[in-house]
Amino acid sequence: MRIENQAIFIEDVPARVIAETYGTPTYVYEENRIRDNFRRALRAFRRAYKDFRFFYAIKACNNLAVAHILRQEGAGIDAASVNEILLARELGLGGEDVMFSGNFLSDDDIRQGLESGVIFNLDDPALLPRVLKFGKPKFLSFRVNPGYGQSEVGDFVTNAGPGAKFGVHPDQVMDAYRAAKAAGITRFGAHMMPGSCIRDPEYFRFITRLLMDIIGKVGRELQINFEFIDLGGGLGIPYKPGDATLDIDAAADMVAAIFQEKIAEYNLKPPRLMMEPARYFVGDAGFIVGRVHAIKDSYKRIIGTDVNMNTLARPAMYGAYHHIYVDGRESEPRQPVGLCGQVCENTDFWVKDRPLPAGIAEGDIIVVENAGAYGYAMSYQYNGRLKPAEVLVRGDQHFLIREREGFDALVRNVHVPEHLRNSSAGAGTPPGGKKSRKRASN
Ligand SMILES: Cc1ncc(COP(=O)(O)O)c(C=O)c1O
Repeated sequence: MRIENQAIFIEDVPARVIAETYGTPTYVYEENRIRDNFRRALRAFRRAYKDFRFFYAIKACNNLAVAHILRQEGAGIDAASVNEILLARELGLGGEDVMFSGNFLSDDDIRQGLESGVIFNLDDPALLPRVLKFGKPKFLSFRVNPGYGQSEVGDFVTNAGPGAKFGVHPDQVMDAYRAAKAAGITRFGAHMMPGSCIRDPEYFRFITRLLMDIIGKVGRELQINFEFIDLGGGLGIPYKPGDATLDIDAAADMVAAIFQEKIAEYNLKPPRLMMEPARYFVGDAGFIVGRVHAIKDSYKRIIGTDVNMNTLARPAMYGAYHHIYVDGRESEPRQPVGLCGQVCENTDFWVKDRPLPAGIAEGDIIVVENAGAYGYAMSYQYNGRLKPAEVLVRGDQHFLIREREGFDALVRNVHVPEHLRNSSAGAGTPPGGKKSRKRASN
C-alpha cells in the first residue's frame, strides 16, 4: 500500500477504484506482497538450515486464490479441519504436503483425516487408540505443548502452556510416541504451536530449545528418526505504527543454531525443519476498503463506517489494533474521534479514541491495514450484515476472488416447517398433532 497525492493505492490500484468497482466493505490482497513475504522468510530459513519447508496455515485466509499464491511459492498446507484438507486438495495438494492439526476430533474427523492420507498431527495421545480403530496413519506427529506460550495479541491467542487447550503435556510425549511405535507406525514428525505474532527473535530460539529437549530424548530412547520438526507459526508483524518488525534473519539464525546443537546433543538424524506461519505471509498484504456512512456528534464524535465487527472480528474479539487510513485526507491535521461499524453491539465501537484526519466526512473511503490474516476468515453474518467481497490486486490489475454475499446467504440453508408458514399461530394444533379441545366460552 502507498499514498500518492493523498490517494491510497493498494499495489497500483486506487482504493477508490476498488470501492467503486466492488462496493464496500471489500477485502483486498496484494499478490506481490504475499510473494515477497514468503520469499523473504524462506530465504532466511533456508540460508540458516537447508532442509527447511513452510506449510501455510490456511485458516488465516482460506481464499483459494490467496492459497494458490503460496502453493506456487512452494508452501504445503497446515489444515485445522477436514474441510481445510479438502481446500488443500483443491490446490492439488495432499499426502506429505498437508498436515492435519485438528483438536478434540470427532470420529468423522478421524476417519476422513485418515482417508485423506495426509500427515496426521495428534493433539492428544488419547486420540491414538481411536485413530487406530479406523486405520494406521502412514505419517504421524504429536502436537507438543512444551509448557510455555506467548502472544503479542493478548492471552486469548496463547496456544501453549498450562492455560492452553492444545497439545500433549511434556510428561506424556514419550509414552505417546512409544504407543504409536508399538502400533506399527513407522514415520514420525513432531510439532508445536506455542506463540502468536511474536516479533522477538529470541522467542524462536527459546521455544526450539524447549521442543528439542523433549523430542531429543524421545528420539534417543525410542530410536525414532524424526523426519520433521515443525515449530508452528507465530512469526509476528507490527500492527501499530512505530512497532518494530521481526528480524527474520536473526530468528532463522537463532533457530537453526539451537536446532543443530540439539540434533548433535541427542544424536538425531537431522530432520527437516518446518514452520507453518500464516500472519507473516498474508497479514500485512491484506486491507479492508470501507466507507464512512454517518457521523454522530454526541458524548464524542463517532465515525460510522461499514467496517463492522462482523467484517473484522479481531478488535471486538481481543482488542486488536488495526491502523486506519482515510483516502484523500492523510495530510490533514488530526482530531481524536471514535470509529465504529453498524452492528447492534457496543463491541462494534472498535476504535474508542484515535486521531483521524479532522475533515473526515460521510462518503469518505477508509482503508484498514493488516487485515489479511484472521480477517475475512473470521467474518460472520450477525445482524444480517453479510460477508464482504474479496479482491486480489497484482500491479494495476484487480480480480474479484470471492463475491460479496447477498441476502440469499441468510436464507439458503434454512428450512421453515410447513406449520409455521400459515398466517395463524396454529393454536389449535398442539405439538402432538391432535386437535386441542375447544375452550368453553361463556
Ligand atoms: C496449529 C497452527 N499452526 C499455525 C498457525 C498460524 O499462526 P500464525 O498466523 O501466528 O503464524 C496457527 C494459528 O492459529 C495454528 O493454530
